[in-house]
Amino acid sequence: MTQSVRRLLVLDAPAKINLHLEVLGKRADGYHELESLLVTVSLADTLEFSSADAGEEVLCDDPLAGPTSDNLVTRAIQLVRQESGRQDGIKIKLTKRIPVGGGLGGGSSDAATTLLGLNQWWNLGWSTDRLAELGARLGSDVPFFFYGPAAIVRGRGEIVEPTQVGKPLDIVLIAPTDRLSTKEVFANLKPGTERVPIEPIAWALAEGNKQEVARHLHNRLIEASRLLSPAVADLERRAASWPCLGHLMTGSGSTYFAVCEDQVSAKSLGRSIEELQLGTVYIVSAG
Ligand code: C5P
Repeated sequence: MTQSVRRLLVLDAPAKINLHLEVLGKRADGYHELESLLVTVSLADTLEFSSADAGEEVLCDDPLAGPTSDNLVTRAIQLVRQESGRQDGIKIKLTKRIPVGGGLGGGSSDAATTLLGLNQWWNLGWSTDRLAELGARLGSDVPFFFYGPAAIVRGRGEIVEPTQVGKPLDIVLIAPTDRLSTKEVFANLKPGTERVPIEPIAWALAEGNKQEVARHLHNRLIEASRLLSPAVADLERRAASWPCLGHLMTGSGSTYFAVCEDQVSAKSLGRSIEELQLGTVYIVSAG
């Protein structure tokens, strides 16, 4: 008697925050040339890979992630099929915890994890660099997730240089219900006056100097996001009096984060922000 063994592969897809994001200019292809320091955080979606009779079945528990027929997980499966010729049935169950459209890179991380997972599931033997190159075709933030927990990202997001994390950071994330479109934020961007250098914050992160990390936080997109989202403007104003080392918006927003002294102060700040009902609050570790 033959017995079929049910296989299952479960992978976490972490969120990211940008500790530094500088826009260096607009490119001929309409994208912007960036320089950014990204770190993964302990908030993650989960992807469960299993077999299906034919085709692809993507199940997602969050309607805000949009129809699964054209989300980044489905597009990642289609890209792998195109590149590998594999036509076997695959089922991916996606459990969302990372807020959608919040600047936390959830969709990009899900896409990167789909590529990683299928590489394992179908024994494709693709290198990290190949996976990152495929990821870049799906979205600007995707390549970073192959090189976490921290990296300097340049170009449109496809040039990734891994960096050290001396000590993980204790962070409070606040995700307002207001969501921002990355495209719209970039479209409202005013050219920066002077490039803020990335080196001081990258060094501080490598040394585990959280005070210096907090002192050098920078996001060129916040001005545009603030104008588009009253929630971002409100969080920024309130954060000025929070007991934390530093605070900023991540990516194109609207999620805001505070770097705290330690986990105890992160929990205490998180609780007091939660009472204000400004959005969903997460206490996480970064890096
Ligand atoms: O690549 P992705 O689909 O994540 O980007 C979403 C939008 O953000 C792009 O259509 C573009 O308008 C803007 N963008 C940009 N420069 C980047 C990354 C994104 O202008 N480096």
